[in-house]
Amino acid sequence: MNFLFPCSLSVSLFLSISIMTQRWHKKRTQLPLLALVLFVFILSTILYSESNIHRIHQNHAHPVDHHRQSTPPANYSILKRPPVILDRFSKCRSTVKYSGRKARWDTGRLDLGRPQLNEESCDLFTGKWVFANSSYPLYNESDCPYMSDQLACHKHGRRDWGYQHWRWQPENCNLKRWNVIEMWEKLRGKRLMFVGDSLNRGQWISMVCLLQSVIPADKRSMSPNAPLTIFRAEEYNATVEFLWAPLLIESNSDDPVNHRLDERIICPDSVFKHAAQWEHADILVFNTYLWWRQGPVMLLWSSEANGVCEEIDGLGGMQLAMEAWANWVASNVDPLKKQVFFVTMSPTHLWKREWEPESEGNCYNETNPITDTGYWGSGSDLPTMNMVEKVLSSLGSKVTVINITQLSEYRKDGHPSIYRKFWETLSPKQLANPASYSDCIHWCLPGVPDIWNELLFQFL
Ligand SMILES: *[C@@H]1O[C@H](CO)[C@@H](O)[C@H](O)[C@H]1NC(C)=O
Ligand SMILES: *[C@@H]1O[C@H](CO)[C@@H](O)[C@H](O)[C@H]1NC(C)=O
Ligand SMILES: *[C@@H]1O[C@H](CO)[C@@H](O)[C@H](O)[C@H]1NC(C)=O
Ligand SMILES: *[C@@H]1O[C@H](CO)[C@@H](O)[C@H](O)[C@H]1NC(C)=O
Ligand SMILES: *[C@@H]1O[C@H](CO)[C@@H](O)[C@H](O)[C@H]1NC(C)=O
Ligand SMILES: *[C@@H]1O[C@H](CO)[C@@H](O)[C@H](O)[C@H]1NC(C)=O
Repeated sequence: MNFLFPCSLSVSLFLSISIMTQRWHKKRTQLPLLALVLFVFILSTILYSESNIHRIHQNHAHPVDHHRQSTPPANYSILKRPPVILDRFSKCRSTVKYSGRKARWDTGRLDLGRPQLNEESCDLFTGKWVFANSSYPLYNESDCPYMSDQLACHKHGRRDWGYQHWRWQPENCNLKRWNVIEMWEKLRGKRLMFVGDSLNRGQWISMVCLLQSVIPADKRSMSPNAPLTIFRAEEYNATVEFLWAPLLIESNSDDPVNHRLDERIICPDSVFKHAAQWEHADILVFNTYLWWRQGPVMLLWSSEANGVCEEIDGLGGMQLAMEAWANWVASNVDPLKKQVFFVTMSPTHLWKREWEPESEGNCYNETNPITDTGYWGSGSDLPTMNMVEKVLSSLGSKVTVINITQLSEYRKDGHPSIYRKFWETLSPKQLANPASYSDCIHWCLPGVPDIWNELLFQFL
């Protein structure tokens, strides 16, 4: 069952380039090839360098035991097989086209809860950004010992401060003001866990930075980096945790340090491995999106003993993953005991011409939000959003949506661009053209993810 053929980075880069080029050609035939290669290069380097960004805390960056799993918990309706241990060397023995097959869930145990009541509550996600230069940011970048070098934009040379000072103003109501003590009281005796990819990790770091200042240094701790990283506050007997699971379900990209980009294999009928870790949390915040935007993925069904995979496009793969996850939520979450949130897609700003026609470049050198109400760029895929909405609505009151997509779309100024640590050496050619290596995917801190957390605070 283990098909071990290590794959070098150059091969993986080449593969993703050829895949992406083909896909883009279908969509936008007028796009110059150079731009395509550039885009793919940026995406690949940034996703690749993610392998290092988990080093939030240099002191703790020693190697970890990746396969430290807790014992299998109570039955999941999902699978009756020993979990396949996929790792980054796993490869399909052969690949066939997707057969259209779906997981057969044991729906007898599903209890979807009541459908969400359509109260006359305010839509917190529609509104505008207001410059609030004295009340924001909610913390200082240099005051947070858990800050990531990938997100600390000021430390890495960004000199405009504007991006830190924006407040989100919903159209028909006000946000409850962030209150760190009130938040800790909500977390007392609880485990708050973020589960997902590096965008979700950014939101977790933001939450830790928002929360840590009121806890004395000797009463708080951060565990070493691992698939599950834990911030602990003794006095409150509470933890704020991050679980690396970029595709939500079991995959060969689950190693937080050296994850794999090409030939991603997912087990579409298994959330077993990750659920064993997240099922103990009281408050769960999930996300998944960008990892599905990189071309086809391979499906390895639990009944497939010979390493034969089915190939499916990213959106189809994401839907299968969301359905597996939703099945776990439906059969395991009692909304009176556990709160589950899903954070929608985090937009990217890779093409300046989308908000400023005829221009070149990306988010590099952008210092102000977009003011055009309803702006929507190509970084937020509508078919994905529709699929997500459908899956989430099937869960009724068992999940609360934190719909950050539109509000973050406005924030072309919020990305690190060149002001972050890059782990690979930049060539003189890249340095001469900063847009070529700008990170227009992640978000500076303090910044946009703080507002995502303020939104989360409204629902706790
Ligand atoms: C798990 O399932 C097996 C058989 O399907 C059953 O015998 C066992 O009691 C179940 N365990 C729990 C904890 O539900
Ligand atoms: C707030 O804005 C004013 C005017 O734009 C500026 O003079 C001042 O330095 C700003 N304060 C901070 C804390 O950024
Ligand atoms: C950030 O630092 C400045 C100057 O050091 C200080 O005036 C301000 O109160 C700090 N802000 C927060 C939220 O701690
Ligand atoms: C701390 O919280 C855990 C749940 O996260 C609970 O099981 C434990 O009893 C709590 N301990 C104290 C001392 O309150
Ligand atoms: C960055 O923007 C400023 C004005 O906002 C402009 O003067 C400058 O030329 C831009 N730099 C680059 C490299 O595009
Ligand atoms: C999020 O909000 C957008 C509008 O900004 C909407 O189109 C989309 O369906 C919402 N997504 C979900 C999952 O509710």
